[in-house]
Parts: sequence; C-alpha cells; structure tokens
Amino acid sequence: MCGIVGYIGTKKASTILINGLMRLEYRGYDSAGICTIENDNLKVMKDKGRVKNLYNLDGINSLTGTIGIAHTRWATHGKPSKENSHPHLDNSNNFAVVHNGIIENYNELRNFLIEKGYNFKSETDTEVIPNLIHYYYTKDTNNSNNKVLQAVSNACKDLKGSFAIEVISKYIPNNMIVCRKDSPLVIGKGDNENYISSDIPAILSFTNKFYLLNDNELVLLSTNNVTFYDSDLNVINKELQNIEWNATAAEKNGFDDFMLKEIYEQPNAIRETIGSRLPKNSLCDFDDLSFSKDFLSRFNKLYIVACGTAMHAGLVARNIFEKICCIPTEVDIASEFRYKNPLIDDKTLCIYISQSGETADTIAALKLAKQKGSTTLAISNVIGSSITREADYSIYTHAGPEIAVASTKAYTSQVVLLAILAIYFAEKLEKTDSETLIKLKNDILELPSKVDETLKCADYIKEYAKTIYTEKDIFFLGRGIDYTTALEASLKLKEISYIHSEAYAAGELKHGPIALIENGITVIGILTDENLVEKSVSNIQEVITRGAKTLIISNQHLTTNNFDKVISVPYTNPLLSPIIAIVPLQLLSYYISKEKGLDVDKPRNLAKSVTVE
Ligand code: AGP
Ligand code: GLU
Repeated sequence: MCGIVGYIGTKKASTILINGLMRLEYRGYDSAGICTIENDNLKVMKDKGRVKNLYNLDGINSLTGTIGIAHTRWATHGKPSKENSHPHLDNSNNFAVVHNGIIENYNELRNFLIEKGYNFKSETDTEVIPNLIHYYYTKDTNNSNNKVLQAVSNACKDLKGSFAIEVISKYIPNNMIVCRKDSPLVIGKGDNENYISSDIPAILSFTNKFYLLNDNELVLLSTNNVTFYDSDLNVINKELQNIEWNATAAEKNGFDDFMLKEIYEQPNAIRETIGSRLPKNSLCDFDDLSFSKDFLSRFNKLYIVACGTAMHAGLVARNIFEKICCIPTEVDIASEFRYKNPLIDDKTLCIYISQSGETADTIAALKLAKQKGSTTLAISNVIGSSITREADYSIYTHAGPEIAVASTKAYTSQVVLLAILAIYFAEKLEKTDSETLIKLKNDILELPSKVDETLKCADYIKEYAKTIYTEKDIFFLGRGIDYTTALEASLKLKEISYIHSEAYAAGELKHGPIALIENGITVIGILTDENLVEKSVSNIQEVITRGAKTLIISNQHLTTNNFDKVISVPYTNPLLSPIIAIVPLQLLSYYISKEKGLDVDKPRNLAKSVTVE
C-alpha cells in the first residue's frame, strides 16, 4: 500500500522524489512527504492530501540536496494529518525515516522509549523507528563508520510486523540505509545515482536495472555504491536484474484513465501471456517449469489461494483443473486460508495468484503452505516480486504493468495462464483425450481476437451507463462459470463506482435475496453456459416479474425476448467464457464511475498493492 521513493545521486532530489511519488499515487494514500539532506541537515516537508500539494509548501524550492527520501502514507495508526505524515524524525532530529507497513509491537517499543526519556509527536507506529535507531546509536560506543548501519540493524531486529524503511541521517550525510521485511522495496541503479522505490514502474523512466531485496536485508547506498547486508551485517552479493517493461507501458498513452487503457490492452496482454506456451502441433511448454508425470501424480489436491480479483481468477481455474485434470481443487481467500489450519500436506499443490506479488495475506498463506510441507507455485505479473521469491515455482502472466487499482488485464491474463497450466498438467497426467485439449488450446489462441471483437460494445455500454449510474443497488446473476463472472463484475462495480452490488448464483436467489428485488432495480444476468442457460433465464424471469430492469450478457441464442437490454458477446469454449463475458462488465463499471465523476484509477480507501493484513 502507499509508497516509498528515494534518490541518492548528483541531481536535485526533491523534484525526482515528488515525481516518483506521483507515479506511485495509484497505490492509494492519504498524505505525502519528503526529507532531503540540505548542507548536512535534515529538511522535512510533509502534509496530508495529494502529492501535488507538496509543490505548494513554503520552502520547497529551496531544497537543493541530492539525497532524499519520500513517502505516501496509507494511514494505519493515527488519522491522516500533517503530524502523522512521514518522514518522522527522532527526538534529536538526527535521523529521518519513512516507513511502509505496520509495527505490531509499537506500543511495547513506545513505552520502552518513553521510559528512556523519549517523547512522541505523532500517533503513528512508525515514530518508534527513528527513536529506536537513535537509542542504539547513542548506546553503541564503537565509533566505526558503520555505526548508523549497526543502529538501524539493531532497531530492525526489535521490530515485529512489516516494514520497508528508508533512513537518512546527519551522521552519514552522503549515504542512505534501506531495509525491508514483508513490504516491497526495490533499488534501481543509474549512472552515479541510485533510486529506491516500492515498485518498479515508478522508477522505470530512470532505469531498467534493478536489485530486488529479500526480507531482513539491509542496504547501504551512496552515489556510486550499493552494499547489501544480511540481518547480521555480513556483506552479501546480489545480482542486478534487467527488467524488460518499458517506461511507456506505465503511461496513459492518450487514454483518459489507466483502467480504460488496460481494458483495451487485454487482447495484447493475453497474447503476451500465451507467448510461446502453446506451440502448434506439440505439447504445452513452460520454459519456467519442467514437471514430470511422476511429480504431478503425487498431488491429490490443488489448493488455489488469492485475494479479490485474483481469487476470482482462481474460481474460474477450478472448473478447468477439475474438468481436464480430474484433480479435486479448492479455492480460498488468502486471509481466511492463513488462519484456518487448512487440510494440506505434501500431496497438495498450492497455487498462489497475485498480480502485484506483494499482497501480504497471499504471501503469508504461501509461507503457511510451505511450513505444512506442500509444494507452492506462484502466479504473478511482477518479475521478482516477493511471492515469486517465496514460492517453490513461479510463472508470470507478462500482462505488462497494471496501474489502475481495479484489476482488468491482470485478471484475464491470470485466467488464460491458469487455463494453459491446466492443459500442461492434463497433458502430463494424460487425463483428457488429446482432441479435447487441442480444441481448448485453439480456443485459447482465438481469445485475443474475440476480446478485440467484444470491446466493440464500448459505445453501447457507455450510453447504457448513463441510464443506471444513479442506482443504489445492482445485482449480478449467473450459474456455474457465469457465477464467477458475476462475482468479479460485482467487485469491479463496487470498487470504482461505490454502488452497492451483490453477485448471486442465479438459483440461490429464491433462498433469500429475492426479497431485495423491487420495482425498477437493475439486475444483470450472465448467460454463457448452454447447459444452464434455460435455468438462468427462468431465474431472471422471476426478477422481471418483480419489477427488475435487466441487462443480459450472453453468447447464446435466447428464445425469451423480454429482457430490457442484451449484449451479445462472441462464443468461446464454456471453460473460457469468463474471459469474454467480463469485458462488457469492466467497461460498464468504468463508464458508471466516469458518469459519476469519480477518480476511476484511484478509488477511495483502496490501494493497488495491499501490503498490510
Ligand atoms: C481488483 O480490482 C482489486 N483491486 C483487488 O481485489 C486485487 O485483485 C487484490 O487486492 C489482489 O491483488 P494482487 O493480485 O496484487 O494480489
Ligand atoms: N503504519 C504507518 C502509519 O500509519 C505506515 C503506513 C503506510 O504504510 O503508509 O503511519
């Protein structure tokens, strides 16, 4: 959540820092601040509200220092306010710290420090960090150059919870120290300069060479050097990684919003996800996996774990794995899985899906599965993200950076990748006849052009959105695989339009929720499964009888014609239909949000990367 930027080099840091924070805005935040080293002194500028407010702060232009740290805060401890904004200084004003994450034992540490004579100016958990560093710094009489590094390392050892932190200090005016645990942080290497950021896209316009940090590693940076240490301050080697994303992929390129751009990028994102994994006339190929039949045969259960939209991709995948691999497959929300003592063992393959690869609950759920002896496979969109470094195996969607908080292209790419993975397993396990698998592969290869075709409904949807954007409640109904689309469509609508909506398995409505159907309410039905279409039509008929207005998304020939609106989408293999059916519903959420004048890309209260529990 929120974000961290840092710069150490020869240019004016404040401009680079504010610019970097703006690129991290999509992650969600409520306050922003920077601190630079000015003539060996620390100068802090911060306030609640938007990053651009920083430009209006008195004295901002006088910041000429070439080393600085910056932060966008998504408040966890203490309301959004100037005092609670980061950076925070220690009592002696010698150390400045920005922090993403949560210090779970901050109360204990605060009381300890108060006893030692420290006082606190904010309500944050973070403020214990600079004071703890100061405490260790003054306690340590060894006057080595590494005294600040030692103090930061000691302080980190006392912290429980999650943290990505940057530290600058008057005592080391030519350096910066950063470290992380369960919260993302990357280092971008330039020429005679180094950048620090919570994620790669924010600094992609400066460099495509990155160091990826692991938990409990510390880094001492100067203009020309980057030295990595483990938690006991032993120097460690780290490889520089080239990231292939280009900077323009993280720009709007003429679209009003990232979300719209990303909806339109889906045909290409799916092509990239398929890549060379579905070669013509031969078996499915993953260059990042080489599972044998023996290896896969030992799993008697698949467990797919994720959050939000990624979990919905898992629900679609369950149908595919069960159908073509004949392996019982469970799907769970990561925040539930991690605390419920799941029934998994060394015969379970646990698959974790995360666009960002930094979702705290998903990472914790993965660590739990490893403890229980299960094999773990991560699916992420971000090369080198935390989840991929924790998992036994990782594969990537290659959908390109997704900036809008509402996930669109990541979802369709996840479903495509999971479908290909299921085919890969089915081929190895010889569970389904090759004709069926070849047909499914061809259906996947046709998806990019079918999604392209589906996008042509945009103008129609835009007009339709004008007729329903003032609604208070909207219902989504579907059976079987269409229910998974209903869930995803409902989540999308809620998060960016703030309209209350519910998704129900169409047959379940009569067991309670139908009591909510009243004259004039909008019900959206998804009908793509030919075996269930008549059943769903009957359920929708029941709501029409009670006064509902209906929009139907379908690829079937419908014999009933008393729906208010019908959007026909291209037919595809029923296992893949969510990839097509979700597209008009993504557009609908988008246009409703626009019609309401909302900030589509940065909806209230939400963050792109949910790095706290
Ligand atoms: C999607 O629109 C949401 N913003 C959210 O549900 C998201 O999918 C979820 O937080 C998981 O994120 P991840 O894929 O980065 O782990
Ligand atoms: N827990 C800290 C605070 O509330 C940091 C929140 C963040 O990650 O921005 O200030």
